[in-house]
Amino acid sequence: MTITSRVSVLLSTVALGGVLLTMPIMSQTATVSASTTTQLTSNTLALSDGTYQVPLNVYKTGTTNTSAMMQYMNNTAVLTIANGTVKIDVSTKSQADMDMMTSFSLNNYTGVKQGTHWLVSMPTSVWQNTMASHMVIDVPLIGWHEEPNADFAFNTANTTKLH
Ligand code: HEM
Repeated sequence: MTITSRVSVLLSTVALGGVLLTMPIMSQTATVSASTTTQLTSNTLALSDGTYQVPLNVYKTGTTNTSAMMQYMNNTAVLTIANGTVKIDVSTKSQADMDMMTSFSLNNYTGVKQGTHWLVSMPTSVWQNTMASHMVIDVPLIGWHEEPNADFAFNTANTTKLH
C-alpha cells in the first residue's frame, strides 16, 4: 500500500468516529477512531480464560455491509474460553427465527442448537475475529429453502467480562 493510500485509509477511518483502534502507519502505531462496526484485523484471541460478552456484527460475505442475517440475530455473543477451547454462543432474536435455521457452522465447526442459541466450540488457535459462517434456512410454510454464507465479526477489543 502506498503512503498516500495509507493516509487515505487513516483519514476515512477517522471520519467514521467511534471506538479507539490502533493501526500501524509507516512503522509507527497511531491511535485513530473507527466505527464499532469496523472489522478488526487481529486474528489472535488475546483473552484469558473466562466468559466474555462481545459485540457481534454479521456482514455479507467479503464485505462490511450488514447481512440480512442481522434481522434475526442478537448483536452480542458470549465467548467462554477454557483449556485452549473457545465456546461461541450466538443467539437469534426469537424462537421463530431460530426455527427457520436448520443448521449453522462457523469456520467449518458445526453449531449445536440450544433453545434460541447456537453453540460452536473450536480451538482458540483457529480463532479469527472475522469468520465465515454457513447456514441452512427452511421455511416449509412458504416453501423457502436457502443455504447462505455470511461473515461473523466479533469485536474482541470491546468485551465485557461476565465471569
Ligand atoms: C433465520 C432466518 C434467515 C436467516 C438467518 C437468513 C440469512 C440470510 C443470509 C446470511 C443471506 C445472504 C445475504 C446476506 O448476508 O445478506 C440471505 C439471503 C437471502 N435471504 Fe435469507 N435468511 C433467513 C430467512 C429468510 C426468509 C424467510 C426469506 C424469504 C422468505 C429470505 C430471503 C432471502 C433472499 C431473497 C436472499 C438473497 C438476497 C440477498 O442476498 O440479500 N431469507 N439470507
